[in-house]
Amino acid sequence: MARGKRRSASAKRSKRGGSRSRSSSARQQDAITLLKADHRQVEEWFAQFEKTNSSSRKQDLAQKICTALKAHTEIEEEIFYPAFLEATEEQDIHHEAEVEHDGAKKLIAQIERSGPDDEYFDARVTVLSEMIKHHVKEEEKRDGMFAKARQADMDLVALGEQLATRKAQVMGGEDSRMSRGRSIAEARGRESRMANSGRH
Ligand SMILES: [Fe+2]
Ligand SMILES: [Fe+2]
Repeated sequence: MARGKRRSASAKRSKRGGSRSRSSSARQQDAITLLKADHRQVEEWFAQFEKTNSSSRKQDLAQKICTALKAHTEIEEEIFYPAFLEATEEQDIHHEAEVEHDGAKKLIAQIERSGPDDEYFDARVTVLSEMIKHHVKEEEKRDGMFAKARQADMDLVALGEQLATRKAQVMGGEDSRMSRGRSIAEARGRESRMANSGRH
């Protein structure tokens, strides 16, 4: 929390200072553009999940969705949401968004603990997709969090830079965890196939 506050305060200062060069800001995505791009990416993976019948494809997409959503919710909660709350004092919007994140995170943890062999796997991914659809609508709607952030005194370019840096760190850590997780999942798959083949 304290870290989020410090970051958002510095984001405000840099706007007033106006020291950022045109060329460096042109290369950067502002905070809202970056967060919306994340939303579009997971929506696409959810749509692909819905269409496929392949278990391995489902596993792969669910993993991608969970990893992306964990990073997305983390950078929002750590950087964007505190800056939004500080700039707008919109406590209801902020708190509801955090509560929705908590609900999604519980489901994400369940999906990560299960796999396509679990009879509830598809249902969990479908319900997560519906929860995220609702949450994204709340963030992106007219008078929602992003619209209010655009109207407020927030340096969205500086925040975008902080979000991108933090996202790269979180995703970097997640990549090495994922490859470890995949080898464990593969080993478990082998064990369960061996157990099933011996069961008659
Ligand atoms: Fe979001
Ligand atoms: Fe969010």
